[in-house]
Amino acid sequence: MARLGILLSGRGSNFIAIADHIASGKLKAEIAIVISNRGDAPGIEVARQRGLHAVVIPSKGLTREAHDAQIIAALQSAKVDLICLAGYMRLLSPAFVRAFPQRIINIHPSLLPAFPGLEAQKQALEYGAKITGCTVHFVDEDLDHGPIILQRAVQVLDEDDVSSLSARILHEEHLAYSEAIAMVINGDCEIRGRCVKKSPRQR
Ligand code: GRF
Repeated sequence: MARLGILLSGRGSNFIAIADHIASGKLKAEIAIVISNRGDAPGIEVARQRGLHAVVIPSKGLTREAHDAQIIAALQSAKVDLICLAGYMRLLSPAFVRAFPQRIINIHPSLLPAFPGLEAQKQALEYGAKITGCTVHFVDEDLDHGPIILQRAVQVLDEDDVSSLSARILHEEHLAYSEAIAMVINGDCEIRGRCVKKSPRQR
């Protein structure tokens, strides 16, 4: 069974959706560790309540490299197969990315490469996009940039504000993340250049 490491900094609704998909048997994986850089993240409290191995590794007073070294050590000792960033609000150092080649994935609330970075839903609204959505992608050394595993589209409505649009995107995120995790851990896809393609046996 694939062992997941989840990194989060806040609410943790994507983590909870993954945990729910595992609990219902829809996603065949186990959560080996949940790590937060913030002790007050609601997501880490939920992880504790669910009896998962939940660890807070604060970044205060540490360089990015020193903080990442602690996270890498925790993930390695939990023997994770795949790392899922789920609202983890820190940039990963190159050493972190290199420690887990093609083993770190992220979810972003836009159709990348449109609207990378913070407040992607607000960016989409202000730009006047008619379609936005969410993207699950492999993490490389650039922000919101690595090979795309899957995307789900969401229509932008004239009456949308950030909150209504974010809620509809989040609904799709909760489905997309577990679907993408299953594709990766089951070997259903492979990275070719910056593209993710179905594995030969899936075609
Ligand atoms: C989500 O919108 C995700 O796409 C982005 O950060 C947000 C995290 O939300 N990376 P949650 O903590 O999973 O509820």
